[in-house]
Amino acid sequence: MRGMMTPDRADAARALLAFYAEAGVDLAVGEAAVDRLAVAGAVSAPTPAPLPRNGLKPEPARRDLSPPGAPPATPDAAIMAARDAAKNAPSLEALRGILEKFEGCALRATAKQLVFADGNPQAAVMFVGEAPGREEDLEGLPFVGRSGKLLDRMLAAIGLTRTNAYVANIVPWRPPGNRTPTPQESQICLPFIRRQIELANPDILVCLGGPATATLLGVKEGIKRTRGRWFGYDTGTREIRAIATFHPAYLLRSPLEKRLAWRDFLAIKKALDGAPRA
Ligand code: URA
Repeated sequence: MRGMMTPDRADAARALLAFYAEAGVDLAVGEAAVDRLAVAGAVSAPTPAPLPRNGLKPEPARRDLSPPGAPPATPDAAIMAARDAAKNAPSLEALRGILEKFEGCALRATAKQLVFADGNPQAAVMFVGEAPGREEDLEGLPFVGRSGKLLDRMLAAIGLTRTNAYVANIVPWRPPGNRTPTPQESQICLPFIRRQIELANPDILVCLGGPATATLLGVKEGIKRTRGRWFGYDTGTREIRAIATFHPAYLLRSPLEKRLAWRDFLAIKKALDGAPRA
C-alpha cells in the first residue's frame, strides 16, 4: 500500500518535524532538496572565452551573463541590478513598486510578501532594523511582533509613535525560519534601503542592532561599542546624524541592557528636540 507509513517511521517523521519546528524551520519551500552549491558552482565557473584571433579586439565582458529579463545570475550581478533599479526610483512608492518586482534576492521567493515600511515617511526620525520575522511577513509591516511591541513602547517613552517616526529594515523579505540575513543578501538589499533613506530624508537615522549598524554605517566594531555613539551618514544628497542602539529583540533576551537603550533613546529625543521640523 503506497503512501502508508509503519508506526516506527511515522514516529520518526513526527520527531524530525518537531526538531525542525524547534530550530525555527516553519516553512516548506519545495518538495525536493536543491543542491545550491552545485547550482552556484555552475554559475560561478563560466566557460572561459576563446582567445582573440586575427588581431581582433575581444568583445568587452558583460557584467551579467543572464539573458535579458532573467534574474541576475550572480550575487555581484544582483548587487549591480539593485543599484541600477534603486537609483531610478523617483519616489518611495516607485521604490516599493521596483522592489515588488526585483528578482535579484532569493528571499523574495520564500517570503509571503514584501515588508517595505511603516510609519510616517515625512518624520524627522527613521528607524532601521535587520529583517522581518514571521509576524511581519504575515502582515506586510515591519516590527509588529514581540520586538515591535517593545519598540513601540520605547518610542512612546520619548513621545514618538508611528505617526511621527518612520520604520523599515535593511532586508525587506523574511529570511526562512527567521535566520540572520547573509552578508550577500544584505549587500543586495543595501542600495534599496539607502535609496529609501534618501527619499524619506529624515534628520536622524537610528540603526537597530549590530547588523543594521554594520551594514548602513560600515562600522566593524560590535554594537556594545557602537551604541550610543553619533555618526555622520551621507544620504546621497546631504549629511544627517545617525545613532546605533540595541535591537529590541536583543533587549527582550537581555532586559538589563534596557537602561543603556534608554540612554540612547534620551539622546535621540534630545537631538529631535534640538532640531524640530518646520
Ligand atoms: N526584527 C527586525 O529587525 N525587523 C522587524 O521588522 C522585525 C523584527
